[in-house]
Amino acid sequence: MNRVEAVAKVTGRARYAAEYPVDDLAYAWPVQSPIACGQIRRVDARAALAMPGVITVLSADTTAPFGLSGPYELLIFGSRTVTYRGQLVAAVVADTLENAQDAAAAIRVSYAESPHEVILRADDPGLYTPETVNPDLPAVTGYGDVPAGLARADAQVSVTYTTPAQHNNPMEPHAAIAAWGNGRLTVWDSTQGPSADRDTIASVLGLPAHRVRVISPHVGGGFGSKGDTRPHAILAALAAREAGRPVKVALSRQQMFALTGHRTPTIQHLRLGASADGRLTAVSHDVIEHTAIRTEFAEQAAAATRVLYATPAMRTAHRLARLNVPAPSWMRAPGEAPGVYALESAMDELAAAAGIDPVELRIRNDAAVEPDSGLPFSSRNLIACLREGARLFGWAGRDPRPGQRRRGNWLVGTGVAASTYPARRRPSQASADADGDGFVVRIAAADIGTGARTALTRIAAGALGVDVRRVRVELGDSALPGAWLAGGSMGTASWGTAVVAACEDLLKDGRHGRADTSAEVAGDSGFARHAFGAQFAQVLVDPGTGEVRVPRLLGVFAVGRVIDSMLARSQLIGGMTMGLGMALMEATPIDPSAGGFVRQDLAQYHIATCADVPDVEASWIEEDDEHLGTVGAKGIGEIGITGTAAAIGNAVWHATGHRVRGLPITPAKLVLADTVLAGTVLADTERAGTVLAGTERAGTVLADIRQAEPGKGAQAS
Ligand code: MOS
Repeated sequence: MNRVEAVAKVTGRARYAAEYPVDDLAYAWPVQSPIACGQIRRVDARAALAMPGVITVLSADTTAPFGLSGPYELLIFGSRTVTYRGQLVAAVVADTLENAQDAAAAIRVSYAESPHEVILRADDPGLYTPETVNPDLPAVTGYGDVPAGLARADAQVSVTYTTPAQHNNPMEPHAAIAAWGNGRLTVWDSTQGPSADRDTIASVLGLPAHRVRVISPHVGGGFGSKGDTRPHAILAALAAREAGRPVKVALSRQQMFALTGHRTPTIQHLRLGASADGRLTAVSHDVIEHTAIRTEFAEQAAAATRVLYATPAMRTAHRLARLNVPAPSWMRAPGEAPGVYALESAMDELAAAAGIDPVELRIRNDAAVEPDSGLPFSSRNLIACLREGARLFGWAGRDPRPGQRRRGNWLVGTGVAASTYPARRRPSQASADADGDGFVVRIAAADIGTGARTALTRIAAGALGVDVRRVRVELGDSALPGAWLAGGSMGTASWGTAVVAACEDLLKDGRHGRADTSAEVAGDSGFARHAFGAQFAQVLVDPGTGEVRVPRLLGVFAVGRVIDSMLARSQLIGGMTMGLGMALMEATPIDPSAGGFVRQDLAQYHIATCADVPDVEASWIEEDDEHLGTVGAKGIGEIGITGTAAAIGNAVWHATGHRVRGLPITPAKLVLADTVLAGTVLADTERAGTVLAGTERAGTVLADIRQAEPGKGAQAS
């Protein structure tokens, strides 16, 4: 189905948060801390306040305490403490954006700077085990005897994989316009969930929720960065209150890097053992991540390991280091994306060590029940995805030996990896009303570019038994019936359940229907619900430059019922494309001396484009899962990114014989590793330490290597 708002979008009539015409609008421009740790001594705003058009300056110095409550990142100007570079320390409100920017540059902030620590290290003495990891999982799990399982293994691997910090970088930068009237606050915000955003803004400002309204009918992507309220929305609200007129805050791309979340870097140690026939004897997965000084965000990187394969013994654990970094946050498949990368890379190493085809190894270790919990799966079709993917990709007859094939000057390789992501739903409300010739369905859902409005139109039309053209869905407004946010791949299942129930309620009297799915969703227990998939990649590696190209990516998924094939395909290939970026390009190195992210724009933070994915295919198998409720869908927003980076990394190994164990797999790592040129496998970090010890300022190359093995770079310097 074509998107119902397609014409509005391509003609520019679809309004995004920064685009609302509001009378008497003023503009706020933030001032960010250049230090990563310390205290604000003084904010000198005298010069700024005398500049043209300046209305007011907000800071911990010049404004009375606002009495905010909530997460540290949102308590803007509430304290003189700085815990990360880029933290908001002041803002100018002026009559134009340019006047606000000019005056912000004239603000002088003095600091008492303290030493900071920003680099994640496996030997950080401050590592601790959080109580839980996202969303509410135990940080440590285990059963069976892992050392015994490893001891009796015929093949085993013990490897460390690292992933760098990454940034969501949605196409639409974060923005909000705030307007007060009669003690009520309206915020046009770019958010993945108007209901949750409204609740958070209200609670931070100390207002009852009914006095705040969030409006966000169109959102240009989020990937998790708009899943929480971000400081720009609080800044807009405070600035509007101080200025006595509506205020817009539209963050620049550069400002987003410190203010809108990022994916934590990880250091993941995996030990896998298998018997001669390829059956796992033990799995252990230890994850180290960073979090912020004040805010704990514990990414569930080992969660998928608890789901994917049967093993008689397993241990998974997460530890965190509190560093002077902005709080990490949600980024497409938080946990599963880096975790499945590490597990599925290690499985490929195990396949090579055991001399078993990597597709076959995964099939042999399929799980009859969820290994960690013992729960039955609502449905599990990983094997079907692997078999169908292998068939479509032409996997049969693959030469398992690495570094054997050439196409012209390119080395050629293929790789496979499994994908998985939980299938959950959360309570939501919806209404359905007869409206002239048709029906209007209302729900405070968010369409962040996924096609949610279109999918819900189809779901409602199906429930009402009418043509889709007779249904209009209103979403993106907290004044509508309250709903879960667009996150965790739960949108369609959560909202769809409420929409179906509201439509069924309407059918009773033909006029009005309402639904609240709290009771129904609370009954979602007794089964392990997960989507599965299999991804196949073909890569070309230039032996001279280390350049990696991915001429073909193929994913086959088992995601329950597919609501709309065009929307589903877009979500899946979008996730896979982001996974390709994760594999080859995306990283935000942290500067150990200045304490902030080195890259803060899309020129240096490279995102995969059309030219990078000449042939990306996604398909799915038929899956009818009676335990998913009325919608029957498992969610497709995130599974596409899980497994992609492993499939590509495994293909790079197959092409070159070199196993790069730190993302992204940049040309520098392949060339420095010397594999491609000399056929020798060198630990790239040792090599980097030797080659680059004297070139601390080598910039991105050194930064890449630091990311490959956090801690080693600092030694080299
Ligand atoms: Mo998504 S990272 O669950 O918003």
